[in-house]
Amino acid sequence: MSAATPAPITVALLGGGTVGSQVARLLADNADDLAARVGAPLQLIGVAVRDASRPREGVPGDLLTDDAAGLAARGADIVVEVMGGIEPARSLILTAMAAGSSVITANKALLAADGGTLYRAAADNGVDLYFEASVAGAIPLLRPLRESLSGDRVHKVLGIVNGTTNFILSKMESEGADYAAALAEAQALGYAEADPTADVGGHDAAAKAAILAELAFHTRVTAEDVSCEGITGVTAADVAAARDMGFVIKLLAVAERTPDGSGVIVRVHPAMVPSDHPLASVRDAFNAVFVEAESAGDMMFYGRGAGGAPTASAVLGDVVAAARNRLSGGRGPGESTYAGLDVRSIDEARTRYYVNLDVADRPGVLAAIAQAFADNGVSIQVVRQDGHGDDAGLIVRTHLATDGALRRTVDNLRNLDAVKSVVGVMRVEGEAGP
Ligand code: NAP
Ligand code: HSE
Repeated sequence: MSAATPAPITVALLGGGTVGSQVARLLADNADDLAARVGAPLQLIGVAVRDASRPREGVPGDLLTDDAAGLAARGADIVVEVMGGIEPARSLILTAMAAGSSVITANKALLAADGGTLYRAAADNGVDLYFEASVAGAIPLLRPLRESLSGDRVHKVLGIVNGTTNFILSKMESEGADYAAALAEAQALGYAEADPTADVGGHDAAAKAAILAELAFHTRVTAEDVSCEGITGVTAADVAAARDMGFVIKLLAVAERTPDGSGVIVRVHPAMVPSDHPLASVRDAFNAVFVEAESAGDMMFYGRGAGGAPTASAVLGDVVAAARNRLSGGRGPGESTYAGLDVRSIDEARTRYYVNLDVADRPGVLAAIAQAFADNGVSIQVVRQDGHGDDAGLIVRTHLATDGALRRTVDNLRNLDAVKSVVGVMRVEGEAGP
């Protein structure tokens, strides 16, 4: 006698756009493999969108609905939230959890704004909350941090976590592409957020940095705790100047313990990276994240950071994990913020600056400029003068100093008679040495 076919694990999709339509497609295309891996078939029971009358490739028309609240309340085994934004996504997730559904979300904006509420609701209702797709697209990164490295002590997480900005900077660097054209291409390829200012303004990367920091340091970190600068101020001239000096410009997310271990600093900003550094060769919408852990040492995670199918791959991995838990009666990991470290200002972060100055070319100018650095305890690594007379330009690169001291130095430089203008300032990351 053959064993009875197990009852299906039901899945409801909130969102059927770039990511949601690919989740629906993979559920159909890989149905047999997924059933074998889970131990029961996965059955898609509905896809909530704003406009249910518009057909979606890969999504059966009879599953489309504009009643997201009704679908969230149906008590599916698993609800996948891929609509984005804070509301109604948060309310729908809470509705789904109250109805007993485990939730998978790719919504870094919501997790970084109010992840605590989601974790509490998951714990109260005895359901899972998984969110691998929320950071670095397809790359398995959050599960390693949440589970594989839970026996270690992470010191630093640093990397490229926004595909859209990396795509734009890569195009500007390699093809001299225009910023606006590169952004339009990233949007057409499905990399950008619904509002791309979240990408270019650094807010998407900041949300991801907050999620990474919370998992790495077992400390509640929200997007508001992250010092955030985007790439809107990066010009073609900056990219060319960086290239001349043997650097490329990348939008970096950095989450690190303070040297005494009592606090964490989380920051997102463009930075110059040496062109022989591994991050320099991360191009287009790819992401790469370095994790430094006490016992494991240094690790690098690399792969596709955006796009429908890569992101759907991460979502499906979570769906399989949650489905297995349903069948076994197990639970995924919950919130871990027991360490409660102090979240400190970027002023305490140790970094290096590149400063490009338009200066008067006369005796004593270099001394006055060097004094401004010395007054703030900042040591100069390289000085280069270009041109002379009225066209003199001075490029200074510093050794490591606190960001606060470096910023005060630049403020002082702006007030010097010898300095006509501060043409460009950028942090430098990834150099070895002091
Ligand atoms: P998208 O293409 O804009 O799709 C959003 C979907 O949600 C659409 O189907 C939309 O319906 C639906 N929707 C939005 N608001 C709704 C509402 N109030 N009621 C019902 N349906 C609603 O977005 P996406 O790129 O797939 O991103 C979805 C989520 O994944 C976001 O949280 C994003 O940050 C995250 N994510 C995206 C990527 C990526 O590469 N795209 C990667 C990682 C994570 P209509 O189609 O009718 O408008
Ligand atoms: N807009 C995001 C990016 C999608 O460009 O990285 C992936 O999270």
